[in-house]
Formats: sequence, structure tokens, C-alpha cells
Amino acid sequence: MSTPARAAEEFRRLHERAPVGVWSAPGRVNLIGEHTDYNDGFVLPFALPFRIAVAAAPRADGRLAVTTVGDDGVPQRVEPVPVDALEPGAVTGWAAYPSGVAWVLRDNGVRAGADLVIVGDVPAGAGLSSSHALQCATALALLGLAGIELDAAGAPSRPEIAAWVQRSENEFVGVPTGLLDQTASLCCVSAHVLFLDVRTGAMEQIPLDAPAGGLELLVVDTRARHSHGDSGYRDRRRGCEHAAELLGVPALRDVGQEALDRAELPPELRRLVRHVVTENERVLHTVELLRAGKLPEIGPLLTESHTSLARDYRVSCLELDQAVESALGAGALGARMTGGGFGGSAIALVDAAAVDEVGAAVTAAFARRGFAPPRLFPTVPSAGAGRDR
Ligand code: GLA
Repeated sequence: MSTPARAAEEFRRLHERAPVGVWSAPGRVNLIGEHTDYNDGFVLPFALPFRIAVAAAPRADGRLAVTTVGDDGVPQRVEPVPVDALEPGAVTGWAAYPSGVAWVLRDNGVRAGADLVIVGDVPAGAGLSSSHALQCATALALLGLAGIELDAAGAPSRPEIAAWVQRSENEFVGVPTGLLDQTASLCCVSAHVLFLDVRTGAMEQIPLDAPAGGLELLVVDTRARHSHGDSGYRDRRRGCEHAAELLGVPALRDVGQEALDRAELPPELRRLVRHVVTENERVLHTVELLRAGKLPEIGPLLTESHTSLARDYRVSCLELDQAVESALGAGALGARMTGGGFGGSAIALVDAAAVDEVGAAVTAAFARRGFAPPRLFPTVPSAGAGRDR
């Protein structure tokens, strides 16, 4: 059964009535352009075929009642909260994600109680943006209940909704993430990567069909998740902002290679800036190659991105480095960590004929090092968020 159909069925089971609708949003992989979004730079994500679906119906008492149902079929409910009482700090744990969305929508004139039932198949904790998929699907569900359909005339645009979701995450949940994940979940389309200029909001959908060229995009979920991830992310972001201040520019987007060479910066900050400057260049180069239909040639750029994230930005970890090293050793054209880092997933661009070999090499290396077995799956750019029923 599809994820949206499952959401509808669970809703019926839990609430003994039909949902008014079901909305869903995908997780994402970022092909390249890591830790550039909060520096006003460039990113190149695509949507995964995994989605979080929200089945929803209005409630007359003005409360938000959220239930998630895991793979084991066991529902987790939180006490319904009055939408009017939502404020940062009022809800903690996983429920802060959907509640924050209701809070930010209330601020934008959409205020109503709702029953939400959430199911999904985006692997959690894998750095594939399951929390953003959840928030984007929740936003569409609450807007839909208010009679606001996505892409209809007069409705908020997808980028506007992405900005609301970012605000909810930054201010309500309290995580200082950029715009990459929400925008990917809402704005990606199938068979394309999304080239987004975060500063200007300009977007271009670039066709990406790896199987047509005899290639596969292989995701390696390392299943590692290191506890210092949140503080690590915050520190990197603060470091970038500080460096931009020292360099007298609005954001590191405005720093080129020459300015970097001339700049006097403490070594720790210089490394951060070097990553951002070179990563933005790698995104632009990748885009050129994709536009020219030269997918195999992006391999070295992916690998350089990983090296830069590991050595300069220092957000990789043993498991991610091993995944990349083993994939390359078994013949991948390129490989890199994807997402925030400190665990999570890597991606590799692999000859279709070598997928099994690459998978086996990664799995064997993980076993040798005593890491948990990785989860591997080839994937294709899939559809963005929308209404399912
Ligand atoms: C996380 C954040 C994004 C982005 C990436 C790193 O996924 O949510 O905003 O900063 O890390 O590229």
C-alpha cells in the first residue's frame, strides 16, 4: 500500500471517520552544495521516492492533535494543544515539528484545529530530511484544510511555504538550519535536480536520468548518528557568519577565490571559508556539466566535495569516510557525504553494472571495522510535495 493510502487508513482506524484529505512530501538527497545554503550560496538537491504523508481533518475545538504511526503500526499520540496557545518552547520532542508549522501558519493567518495522522517511509536519522518532509506535508495539510490548495491562484507559493517551514524550524524547534531541505521537499520535480540560488531564490530544474546513461545514484545510509551533530552544525554556521563579518561581506557567497587568498583570517575560519568558496564553484561546475549532458564527469566534483567537507569543514565522520573510500575503491565515479554530516548518508555515482560490487565493498568494510551494517539503495529524482487524495 502507498504511504498516502496507509495514512488515510490509519486515520480511519484511529478517528473512526475519513480524513478530509492526504498530503505528502518527500525526503531529499543533496547531489552537491553542502553547507552553502546558510551562506547565501548554491545547492543542487533532488527529491527521494520516500515520503511522509499526513491525513487530516478539521477539529471543532481549535486544538491540534497529532499522531504518528511507525512501521510497527503502533501509534504515538501527544496531548492535543490549542493552536492559540502554541509558542516556541511550548512543545518539545518530535511533536515540536508539526506544532511549529501550525504556529507559523497561525502567524500567517491560517488558524484552525486539526486531527493529523502521520505515516512515512523516509528513513529517520539518515540525514535524508525526514523531519522536513514531515513539516512540509503538515504545512500542506493545514493549508488544505483551510481551503488553500497548493499552486492555486492566490495561494502562497512553494518557496513562501518553504520559508515558513524554515522559520518554524529555526524559531519554534530551535534548530538554525538553512533553506535547502524544505525547498527541496516542496519544489523538486521528478527526473530533475533543483539548482537553487539561495540568495536570489532563482530555481532551475535540470534533467537527471542516471539509468539512461547506464549509471545509478547509490545512497548509503551509514546508520551512524553522532550526538555532537547539532552543536557542530551551529558552530559551523556561527563560524561562517563570523568570517563574513571579518571579511566585511553580507555572506560567504560574496567571497571569491582571490579574496580568500588575500584575506587574513584565523586558520579555523579560513578552512570554513575555503570549503564554502570551493563548494559554490563545484555546484556551478556540476550544473554546467549536467546541462551539457555529461553526468559521468561530475564524479570527481562529488569526491572533491567530500574531501572539502571532511578536511576543511570537518563535518564528516569515520563511517561516512569509509563509505566514500570503499565506494571509490570499488569503482564508483564519485562519492560524497550528503546533508549536514556527523553521520547520516553518503551518495555514490556508480556504473549500473558495478552497483552490487560497490555495495558489497561498502558492506564488507563496515563489517571489518565493526560498524553497524549500512543500508544501500539506488535511487532516482522523484516528485515533490503535493496533495494525494
Ligand atoms: C542540513 C540543513 C540544511 C543544510 C545542510 C547542509 O540538512 O537542514 O539547511 O545546511 O544541513 O548542506
